[in-house]
Order: sequence, then structure tokens, then C-alpha cells
Amino acid sequence: MSMVNIDWSEHLSVGVALVDEDHKKLVDMVNELFSACFVGVGDEAVAAILTAVIDYTQYHFAREEAFLQEHASPALEAHAEEHRQLTQQVLAIAEQGVSALSDDVLLFLRDWLTHHILETDKVSFAPYR
Ligand SMILES: [Fe+2]
Ligand SMILES: [Fe+2]
Repeated sequence: MSMVNIDWSEHLSVGVALVDEDHKKLVDMVNELFSACFVGVGDEAVAAILTAVIDYTQYHFAREEAFLQEHASPALEAHAEEHRQLTQQVLAIAEQGVSALSDDVLLFLRDWLTHHILETDKVSFAPYR
């Protein structure tokens, strides 16, 4: 199990404080998951962290969608659809069980998070910087 930590830096900032704060927390939690897998803390502890990541992700996605709705953003519908797909993907990973958390799955999770921030969040939130 290799270390695949995400480094928070300004290139991940979307320029909206509420969203950036959530993303920092999410990056911390995903990094915690990577560390737990790397160190080998046991399946139960890893499962608890993965559940926390999923819960926080759902909370965060709902907050983003509420923000876009409040601002009558034309990006809302497509953005919410991408959130639904991402949620399905991470739930499918969780369903496989933590013993299936390979390097590939962890790298997928890292890219899942960073690509969405860089490609979708940045564009959707750009008008509200
Ligand atoms: Fe986000
Ligand atoms: Fe998003």
C-alpha cells in the first residue's frame, strides 16, 4: 500500500470560502484514509474512516447544491448529476469492503476528489469568487 496523499495548495482553491473549507476537511479525511491503509490499522478502523468520508462527502455535496440553488446557478443541474455519480462510485467502493481497498482504488478516490474540484467545482463556483 503506497502513500498517495493529496497536498492542499492554492491550485485546489475555488475561491469561495465555504467550499474551500469543506474541501480542506475532505482532503484531510481522504489523507487519513490513505494513512490508515498504509499503516495497517485494521479493517474496522479503516471502515470507520471510509464511512466518515462518505458521510462528509454527502454533507458537502448537499451544501454545494444548496449554494448553487440559492444563487440560481445554471450549473446546478449538471453539477448535481455529477455528485450523484460520484456518490454511487464511492458507495460501490464501500460495498466491496475495506479488504478490497487496493492501491488502484485509493488512487481512484484521490483522482475522484481532485478532478471534481479542479474541473467541476472551480467552473461552477467561479462566478461567486
Ligand atoms: Fe466540492
Ligand atoms: Fe461539487
